[in-house]
Amino acid sequence: MTVTPTRISYVNGRYVRHNEAAVHIEDRGYQFADGVYEAILMENHVLIDGKQHWTRLKRSLKELSIAMPCSVNTIESIIQELFRRNRMKSGTIYLQVTRGVAKRDHPFPKKPVPPALVITITPRKTPSEKERTLGVHAITHPDIRWLRRDIKTISLLPNVLAKQAAVEAGVREAWLYTDEGFFTEGSSTNIYIVDAKGVIHTHPANEMILGGVTRDTMLKLAKKARIPVIEKPFTLADIKKAKEAFLTSTTAFLLPVVKIDKITIGTGKPGKIASQLQELYAKHVQALSNPKK
Ligand code: PDD
Repeated sequence: MTVTPTRISYVNGRYVRHNEAAVHIEDRGYQFADGVYEAILMENHVLIDGKQHWTRLKRSLKELSIAMPCSVNTIESIIQELFRRNRMKSGTIYLQVTRGVAKRDHPFPKKPVPPALVITITPRKTPSEKERTLGVHAITHPDIRWLRRDIKTISLLPNVLAKQAAVEAGVREAWLYTDEGFFTEGSSTNIYIVDAKGVIHTHPANEMILGGVTRDTMLKLAKKARIPVIEKPFTLADIKKAKEAFLTSTTAFLLPVVKIDKITIGTGKPGKIASQLQELYAKHVQALSNPKK
């Protein structure tokens, strides 16, 4: 008989049973969404693109004047310990840092409090074979977020509402557009189109989008494979003319997008470039998680 281990999570210095894991009601993350997060893939005990995630975490914290709760080395040891305690070797890591616990008051606490660190892990939810090979559908949705989308803040209400609209429309993702009609990103993914000449278009990684770690890796792989990339915002008119479309994220990897609202993209089937990048990305993850092979 196999015994399923009790799920364990990490909360502010303690490994606790997941059902009992809790933070204080005056945690500023709970009251003000005053915190940041990272979602990272662990494959065979190896963090995929870990360095890039730590760089982004430190940057998000710095932009909000929140201290790193501990060193990256310590965070990595906690993560390895969580995987050991949960008897897992692969999965998705969710890591959240908030400004900490203080009496509810808008300004930062006068007397600094230690930032709060919470880490949970879950078995990886890979996209289905169907989604990877046939592609997914998306809707377009107004981007109503603040203007510092480059910070990976836990303040995700506009993203939640956009994703809910996608779910209610029976599709995978909502592609967000600004008042000016430029597409920024998905509710939890970065987005791309391929034009008639085979050039990838995606929004530049500025304050208007969250610069995805998967996006960075994907663009490097594209450049290496000599697939041209333009980091420039695109419009609905560009989507209508596109040969291909796709999205990326830590949990979705790369998924071809074959229909956006009522617009069929290209032939309605995943395109050559999306499929090529899917393959290159799978090899990238494989090489990192099985370095000897
Ligand atoms: N989402 N854009 C937004 C708004 C996101 O929330 C995410 C990630 C991305 C892609 O970033 P990356 O490639 O680093 O995962 C882009 C994570 C997975 C989430 O919220 O669960």
